[in-house]
Amino acid sequence: MERKNIATLSLGNTVEGFYVISKIVKRTCVRGDYLTGQLSDNTGEIGFIYWSYDGSITPNDNGKIVYIDGNVTEYGGANQVTAVEIRHINEYDDVNISEILPTAPVDVGAMGQYLNGVISTIKDTEYRKICYEILSENKEEFCSYPAAMNVHDAVINGLIHHTYKMIRAAECIAEIYKNCIDRDLLITGVLLHDIGKIKEFSVNEYGLVTDYTEDGKFKGHLLLGSEMVRAKAIELGVNEEKIKLLENIILSHHGKPEYGALAQPLTLEAQIVHQIDMLDSRITAGIEGIKGVAYGEFSQKIFSLDNIRLFKHIA
Ligand SMILES: [Fe+2]
Ligand SMILES: [Fe+2]
Repeated sequence: MERKNIATLSLGNTVEGFYVISKIVKRTCVRGDYLTGQLSDNTGEIGFIYWSYDGSITPNDNGKIVYIDGNVTEYGGANQVTAVEIRHINEYDDVNISEILPTAPVDVGAMGQYLNGVISTIKDTEYRKICYEILSENKEEFCSYPAAMNVHDAVINGLIHHTYKMIRAAECIAEIYKNCIDRDLLITGVLLHDIGKIKEFSVNEYGLVTDYTEDGKFKGHLLLGSEMVRAKAIELGVNEEKIKLLENIILSHHGKPEYGALAQPLTLEAQIVHQIDMLDSRITAGIEGIKGVAYGEFSQKIFSLDNIRLFKHIA
């Protein structure tokens, strides 16, 4: 049977093929142990439940590709896959991994070139050097890492895609408010605001985030990113005032302590980075939340959009 893309699954469909498994939780009820979690591919994600738990798949298998046999059922108003078999890939399986892995729908080379062009427009030589050196030293991770474990841009190439989208918005804002803000600081802040994620996330052999690193757990990407920037700036002999301004952007870009911010956004540029970051993460969560929803229907509740169900009005 041909493997169906998650975006095309509907109630009653048979599901047979390979998918990425994540958010695995083992639970117990009167019938015994069972597993729940998420299946994803390059077109979307769907919850699953697996009653015949036999211990072969565990929460340690987050981010792996597994074979699923089951069908689409409904639970709590949402479609889910009720699996009758879940197993690891074996040597006889013919799996096209690139068609399964959730990957940002973008040309990474073209985005990298675009960002290089943007770096060359930074007039301040110190900001320009910090950007250039940090991004070129960490090019491989920056271009391939997801931007999250879940929530938004949790896909291969997600970090560069998220940064690229923010840069496009920042360029427009910098033009609109050109007499009131420091464009160089804003652009540098956007380019580096999430760079700490490459030290925060632990990725598996497919490049998907499966866990946080020890540093990620203890410090988080805001502190890790600001440490990277300070270390590079000191190496380059950048003055302390610029380092502080840049650090404040990185430490404050989540806006509020309850969202993980370690400082208040104290400059207009820090406020803008925070607002664009939130804008892109919310729009992206909306786009992902409405994927696979039929025309004229509502999505599931989208957590980052205040649990609103979006209405799909375009096919
Ligand atoms: Fe962030
Ligand atoms: Fe971000």
